[in-house]
Amino acid sequence: MGIMSKYKISLIEGDGIGPELAASAKKILETIHDTTETKFEIKQVSAGDNALVKYGKALPDFTVNDIKNSDACLKSPVGEFAADVIIVLRRMFDLYANIRPAKSYPNIKGLYDDVDLVIVRENTEDVYIGWEFNLDDDTIIALRLATKRASERIAQYAFKVAEFRNKNNKKVTAVHKANVLRKSDRLFVNSCKNVAQKYPNVQFNDSYVDACAMNLIRNPQDFDVIVTTNLFGDILSDEAAQVVGGLGMGPTANIGDNFALFEPVHGAAFDIAGKDVANPSSLILSAKMMMEWLSSKNKDNKILEESKKLESIIISMLQENKKTIDIGGKLSTTEFTENVIKKLKEYY
Ligand code: NAI
Repeated sequence: MGIMSKYKISLIEGDGIGPELAASAKKILETIHDTTETKFEIKQVSAGDNALVKYGKALPDFTVNDIKNSDACLKSPVGEFAADVIIVLRRMFDLYANIRPAKSYPNIKGLYDDVDLVIVRENTEDVYIGWEFNLDDDTIIALRLATKRASERIAQYAFKVAEFRNKNNKKVTAVHKANVLRKSDRLFVNSCKNVAQKYPNVQFNDSYVDACAMNLIRNPQDFDVIVTTNLFGDILSDEAAQVVGGLGMGPTANIGDNFALFEPVHGAAFDIAGKDVANPSSLILSAKMMMEWLSSKNKDNKILEESKKLESIIISMLQENKKTIDIGGKLSTTEFTENVIKKLKEYY
């Protein structure tokens, strides 16, 4: 991407605390736009409970068009109709890789202070395909989908993540239950093993999901990249988020071959909506992941530098105890955002 090109970002404002977080992230991206050679064109788009009320659809067609016309989507949480937005978008854009980092940040109370791992979750198969049938009134059968193609492409993605990360001991751990799910998870773990052979500089091992759930609490420092199937990934990533101190700091990425969507791990938090107390870090760190992805997709080192600066600013905020209420600080959403913007401007 040339210096003067702009990245088109579609920004879903969402419900509950969504608009407050979206306003914060927008101001921060605009500051990067104003002060660096990284340029954004941000279009706010409507989706979620508010869109359902206004337009009769949680994900209106014009929103889909705006998202299709953008380079990446940054999404604030939506409310009760989240499934009608996020699951539809994941399928529509074939966003097969769900990436959830769990990282210790300074002055955040977690179980440990030295965790830095990433969960790479397969996003399109498993029991989440929703193939559930009544055999009779009292008996339901639910089907699980596993293909070599999807297992290999998620494994491939996990190894690429491991290569991208700045760790000395790069490692991918495939998490499964192949002793019980003898066909579907055996296929998954064998696919991971096949892909591992192409990455001799990354260690590979595998673990049963129950052992992994225990070790995430006992010695999470041993993990680097975890690759796993949809349901296990869903559960383990919430566990990992708690190990490093909760939801307010958690970003997530939904990535496909041509498009990607970035959002906080948490929901619309209606209990604190409109009070200017929400922690915007989850969406700011989602924007940081978005910049990393744009960097590798467009071979743009400048935006990678901006993403690193943004994360280092969030870290320096925490080190100075400039925190929002959910993580033991006193700052409002607006004050936190203003401080980040001040630091961004001072950087140059
Ligand atoms: P939630 O994640 O919205 O909130 C759980 C708790 O964490 C609440 O006490 C909330 O105040 C707190 N919290 C969450 N994010 C925070 C932040 N940034 N700063 C400070 N505190 C924060 O979960 P809940 O209450 O179960 O769901 C609320 C709504 O969100 C539901 O309608 C649900 O459908 C939707 N949802 C949407 C998702 C999405 O858009 N991808 C994902 C999960 C839930």
